[in-house]
Amino acid sequence: MHKPENNYSNLFNTYNRLAIKISHGNGVYLFDESGNKYLDFFGGLAVNSLGYSDPDVIKAITEQAQKYIHLSNYFLQQPQSLLAELLTKHTGYKKVFFSNSGTEAIEGAIKLVRKWGSDCGKTEIVSFSNSFHGRTMGSLSLMDRKKYKDGFEPFLPNCRIISFNDIDDLRKSINNKTVAVFLEFLQGEAGVIPASEEFINTLRELKAEFGFLIVADEIQSGIGRTGKLFYFNYYDINPDLVVIAKALGGGLPLGAILGNQNVSGVLTPGSHGSTFGGNPVACSAGTVVLDKVIENGLIRNAGIVGDYLFNQLLNLQQKYPQIIREIRGKGLMIGIELSCNCSKVVDSLLKKGILVNCTNTNVIRLLPPLIIGKHEVDLLCHSLESHFSISAE
Ligand SMILES: Cc1ncc(COP(=O)(O)O)c(C=O)c1O
Repeated sequence: MHKPENNYSNLFNTYNRLAIKISHGNGVYLFDESGNKYLDFFGGLAVNSLGYSDPDVIKAITEQAQKYIHLSNYFLQQPQSLLAELLTKHTGYKKVFFSNSGTEAIEGAIKLVRKWGSDCGKTEIVSFSNSFHGRTMGSLSLMDRKKYKDGFEPFLPNCRIISFNDIDDLRKSINNKTVAVFLEFLQGEAGVIPASEEFINTLRELKAEFGFLIVADEIQSGIGRTGKLFYFNYYDINPDLVVIAKALGGGLPLGAILGNQNVSGVLTPGSHGSTFGGNPVACSAGTVVLDKVIENGLIRNAGIVGDYLFNQLLNLQQKYPQIIREIRGKGLMIGIELSCNCSKVVDSLLKKGILVNCTNTNVIRLLPPLIIGKHEVDLLCHSLESHFSISAE
């Protein structure tokens, strides 16, 4: 058989890839083909919550693969109904629809709110500046950043994008025509930026006045990453729909829409669907993820280690205020805003065997596996300090 060369030139050039070739991962570490070891604060961009090679995930997917890898959604399948049962039990939401990715789940939520609104004459979706909801046309229609949108016009009609955390703009923009508000309560891609409490309180008041749906995009921040099951749990609000993905499938493609009683009857047979959505192998991994995150204390760990990380970073900021502008986020979703472009820090940490992500040019985003401990936080902070001490000279 022809053995292909290991080169990437035949792939569409859509990613800026790191210059290392990973051979395998274990726990919170990745290893490259030359045997170098990397502490992973990148976390598959919030996918690898259980770290790498979790034995229970491997067991669950192996056992399921031996039964059936795919079953058409014309059949009921146990892994899907089991995971839906766990999700409704732990979240209090009534209904679940499974997709394969975050953006697909957002698309499903857009369809669902449109259908809900068609009965009551509500048509306009509101979303926020700098948000990130995915790469499909519906998701892009809810986003304003040129970097993601330029050249892909036209987008969906009746989508209004307003300023995040701007209460006046919110009050001016919401009315009887508003069908839904989509938001990341903690904006990830934008640089780990939380919604202010007053902003969310205003949103809740407006919902009581105008009766629209709230859709929480918890694709990055959800499933325990911030020290609570969902980041919106830090606020006094109950979204009607929650969209999750990333960590849900334990590394396999899986997303979901969770809906409350207000929307539980909107979708009917044939009105929405997916060939692969709710794949049984991915759902089997998902039950392990929920078990470990919720029942086995990983949410708690994310909270405790996250607080420790935050405080260590604040100490660093005190030492290097000219370099570190702000530390933001919660649990194990943390942004370190620098006064300069962060590519040099990313490269320097890579050389020291630590992987971090840079978002929005000057924010180092930390999204490590939720199994990380204080020792790994110390390793990161020492490496950051040694880089900053040289840059500050
Ligand atoms: C908040 C948020 N929403 C949606 C998405 C899109 O998810 P996916 O890449 O699985 O389509 C992402 C991905 O980074 C995200 O962070």
